Amino acid sequence: MAIRSLEQLDLDGRRAFVRVDLNVPIRDGRIQDDTRIRAALPTLRAVLGRGASVVLASHLGRPKGRPMPELSLAPVARRLADLLDRPVPLAPGVVGPGVSEAVRALEPGQVLLLENVRFHPGETKNDPDLARAFAALADAYVNDAFGTCHRAHASTAGVADRFPPERKGAGLLLLSEIRAFHRVLDAPERPLVAVLGGAKVSDKIPVIRNLLDKVDRLLVGGAMAFTFLAAQGVGTGDSLVEADRIELARDLLAEAERRGVGLVLPVDHVIARDIAAAAEVRTTEGPEVPDGWKGLDIGPDTRSAFGAAVATARTVVWNGPMGVFETPAFAEGTFALARAAAESPAFTVVGGGDSVSAVNRSGVADRIDHISTGGGASLELLEGRVLPGIAALEG
Ligand code: 3PG
Repeated sequence: MAIRSLEQLDLDGRRAFVRVDLNVPIRDGRIQDDTRIRAALPTLRAVLGRGASVVLASHLGRPKGRPMPELSLAPVARRLADLLDRPVPLAPGVVGPGVSEAVRALEPGQVLLLENVRFHPGETKNDPDLARAFAALADAYVNDAFGTCHRAHASTAGVADRFPPERKGAGLLLLSEIRAFHRVLDAPERPLVAVLGGAKVSDKIPVIRNLLDKVDRLLVGGAMAFTFLAAQGVGTGDSLVEADRIELARDLLAEAERRGVGLVLPVDHVIARDIAAAAEVRTTEGPEVPDGWKGLDIGPDTRSAFGAAVATARTVVWNGPMGVFETPAFAEGTFALARAAAESPAFTVVGGGDSVSAVNRSGVADRIDHISTGGGASLELLEGRVLPGIAALEG
């Protein structure tokens, strides 16, 4: 895999089309979390610092190919201008004569943000005409939109295909994501421990299959653990079990055993009849959950066991919370795991929206080696898939 970095691209005095992922949560016109905008800054500063001008592109939400004022990038342009400390005008559209004119007027060191690329119906269809129109705006293409690299869209894959290898490359964020996942999945220091959580085993089947081929131990928490426990004949009470996946869970347990991978399930749980904050909360003595009760977090013995596995690992990858961490009574399992990952000498990678927000809330985010900015994209890497936005940069 040969993907050029910024230093390997001739950007000096050139015009660069830079695709970033500025898909941030916005409510009533206000940005709720600007992590993704901040994550794009190092690349923008580096490109602008080389005397290039930047045609900046991103999507926001899923407007389905037509302009929607509430999904305009205008609030993002304002925040970006504050953070970059220079004007970031918003183009009068995605492509077209007005946009081309604004691009032609760009001076070295200036930025123009295109309007939400998904306002154009060709973006999600990877339409060749739109890709060609994007490519005509610049001399070089830089992709730093890791969170969108699993989408074969015009501004991620199509446009990149229109640049020769020496005029396209990955930004700093994308390279750090590629390197972190490569270090975990292709060249891990062992033992490699994966921790999976979240509600449904059905969402994680391809991830589990791919990881069983690579990891030394697979720790499973969150509600998805109950489908595995049900497969072992353990009573799960009213916990979330995917009845139609019990057979599959049994197969995965057998496959783990065949491969000598330790698939570790919770040995106790924090339970309640309800998720409500005021509900009576108990801890089970073993893995069984009594009828009428739901398992909503891993229990203290499981916390210790998972913590010990993480402490002795050399590489850890974690996706999905251990319980309903949004409710304080069921948050301790997820937060304890975050602390264990932070304290472990292992190289630690956390991916996936929920686990990232849990790590951020746990207060130890700065001690995790790599926190991915991609939800779907990081999951697809864990599934062993090639991301089209990354593949299009190779050459
Ligand atoms: C994300 O938020 O995961 C990315 O920005 C991709 O968004 P999408 O799922 O709408 O393609």
